[in-house]
Amino acid sequence: MEPRPTTTFEINLTDDQIAFFLNNGFLSIDSITTDEEVEWLKSVYDDLFNNRIGEKDGAYFDLGGRRAHDGKEVLPQVLGPERTYPELRETTYFMNSRKLSAQLLQLPLDQVNGGGHMILKPAGYGRETPWHQDEAYWNPSVRHHGLSVWMPLDPATVESGCMQFIPRSHLTDEIVMHKHIDDDPLVHGLVTEQVDPSKAVACPIDAGGATFHYCRTLHYAGPNQTDRVRRAYINVMSGPSKKLDKPDVRPWQEEAQQALAKLKTLAREQA
Ligand code: NI
Repeated sequence: MEPRPTTTFEINLTDDQIAFFLNNGFLSIDSITTDEEVEWLKSVYDDLFNNRIGEKDGAYFDLGGRRAHDGKEVLPQVLGPERTYPELRETTYFMNSRKLSAQLLQLPLDQVNGGGHMILKPAGYGRETPWHQDEAYWNPSVRHHGLSVWMPLDPATVESGCMQFIPRSHLTDEIVMHKHIDDDPLVHGLVTEQVDPSKAVACPIDAGGATFHYCRTLHYAGPNQTDRVRRAYINVMSGPSKKLDKPDVRPWQEEAQQALAKLKTLAREQA
C-alpha cells in the first residue's frame, strides 16, 4: 500500500448550501477531497473488499442478500473500515466530512463525530439499495441527530447507482414502517413502501464529490447497470442524541434478532 497522500483540500459550505440542506434534507457538492486521496482510497477499499476483511466479526457482509451465503454478494458492505486502516480518520475526506457535518447539523465541531462504512455495487449485477431512512437501522431508544456523507470513488450516475432523495422527507416525527429486503429478516438491508418515488431527486456526482442526507431523509440508490464497479465510502456523523421516554416501535429490528437467534440455535444443534 502506498502511503496516504498529504494533499489537503479546504472547503466550507455557503449559507445557501446550508439553507438548502435544512430545507430539503440533502445536499450535493462537486468535491470533498483531492484526486490523489481518491486514488489512495481506492487501494484501501479494494483491499478490504477483495480480502473480505472483517467477515468473521460481521464487519463484511451482503447488505442485499442473506448473511454468510456462499454465492456472490449483490451489495457487499464493510463496516468500520477504520479498525483495519486507522489512518482513514486522518484523511481529508474524514476531516471535511466532520467539519461540513457540524455546519449542517448546526453544532460546534467538538460535538460531532462518527465513522465509516463502504457499500460496493458490483458491475452489472450490483443490487439496488431500496428506499429507506437510515434511522430505521439505529437504536430506537434515542432520537438521533446525524447525517451521512456519501462519496463515490467512481463516477456515480443514475445507471451506476447514484444517490436519490425525497426532498423534505426529513421533516417528519416518525420513522415509517420498514421491512427487510425480500421480506427476509436474515437480509440486513431495509426497505419501506411508504414513499412516492416520482418525487425523487437523483444526484449524479463524480468520484470525489459528495452528497449529504439527514438520518430521516428517504433515500435510494439504483442497481448498477453499467460495466464498471461503483464504490461508495460513507461517513455517518452525529451530534448528541436524546433519550426517548418510550422507545420507538421498530418491529423489523426484533424480527432480525429473532431470526438470527434461531439460526444460531440451529447451528448449535447441528454441531
Ligand atoms: Ni442509507
